[in-house]
Amino acid sequence: MLKVGFVGWRGMVGSVLMERMRAEHDFNDIEPLFFSTSQTGSAGPDVGKPVPALADAHDLTKLAEMDAIVTCQGGDYTAAVHDDLRRQGWRGYWIDAASTLRMKKDSVIVLDPVNASVIKQALSDGVVDFVGGNCTVSLMLMATGGLFAHDLVEWVSPMTYQAASGAGANNMRELLGQMGYLHQAALAGGLDDPATAILAVDRAVTNALGSEAYPAQHFGVPLAGSLIPWIDSALDSGQSREEWKAGVETNKILGHQYEQIPIDGICVRIGAMRSHAQALTIKLRRNIPLDDIEGLLAEANDWVQVVPNEPEASKRQLTPAAVSGRLDVPIGRLRKLAMGDDYLAAFTVGDQLLWGAAEPLRRMLRLVVE
Ligand code: HSE
Repeated sequence: MLKVGFVGWRGMVGSVLMERMRAEHDFNDIEPLFFSTSQTGSAGPDVGKPVPALADAHDLTKLAEMDAIVTCQGGDYTAAVHDDLRRQGWRGYWIDAASTLRMKKDSVIVLDPVNASVIKQALSDGVVDFVGGNCTVSLMLMATGGLFAHDLVEWVSPMTYQAASGAGANNMRELLGQMGYLHQAALAGGLDDPATAILAVDRAVTNALGSEAYPAQHFGVPLAGSLIPWIDSALDSGQSREEWKAGVETNKILGHQYEQIPIDGICVRIGAMRSHAQALTIKLRRNIPLDDIEGLLAEANDWVQVVPNEPEASKRQLTPAAVSGRLDVPIGRLRKLAMGDDYLAAFTVGDQLLWGAAEPLRRMLRLVVE
């Protein structure tokens, strides 16, 4: 049995990974060792079989005993440990949620329902670094993989609606705190009194949004009752780093070495908890009937679900509230745009912690184990 080390398994993405691995009985087929950056020697987690005490996540000798290491510990940990391990000759599989190694020449971004052939080729070529993709990119490809697989996409412009979870656990807590703060302000402004004019309640909420006491330590600005049209750092191109990732990561996932499909849009944080949505404008290479498009999308993998372009279905099935905690990736609002028959509109949503983070790593480990 392969010895597999886990680092960062207690954090948000790591916990979702553990949950999924337990649900799929993945621990039956490996010999797990859990590492910790702070609690070496404590008891390991319950994974349905006895596990040794926690090992030190900075102990290179112990790490090097592993056949594979799965880390959700974050980019700083990867930067601190990965290169040193490789320098001392370790050739095990490194399976990572962080972006640090994603665009390195010798790494592969994993999303096997979309790029199984790229992954299998890499394994046979001796590649050992496998990295999960950016969440919006992975979710977009889970939804639209059928179009890319048939080389029908000339370009895509994704306009995203990204959940608080993408910014981290503290941000999710802060979003809820912000919601509560606004509700309190609305109550103080007369929300419960039907005689109070709504503009008076709104004034109380607007004042709260601008108040020094509004809880915004992590986001820096209000998210609840507002939105944030910038995610991650600024690049010289005028893109945010999140926007830049859409193009470079999609093309890398698809294994495009020469011709790059342009993918670019604007990434926006909204007050959803853990599911990212995105509105896509897709320029097709040619005019394809909508029925054919729906068929190609639906057959691409077991998780994509085509939602009819109808009001009730869209409102019930195509929302963060509908998909959070589920592996399904619905895509809907499919219609040709007024710009021409080769311009397709689509809207898709998916759980940012499942296909957007933990699930591709879990499945990559399975590919290594099998
Ligand atoms: N960068 C993403 C976000 C999450 O901020 O929503 C991780 O892929």
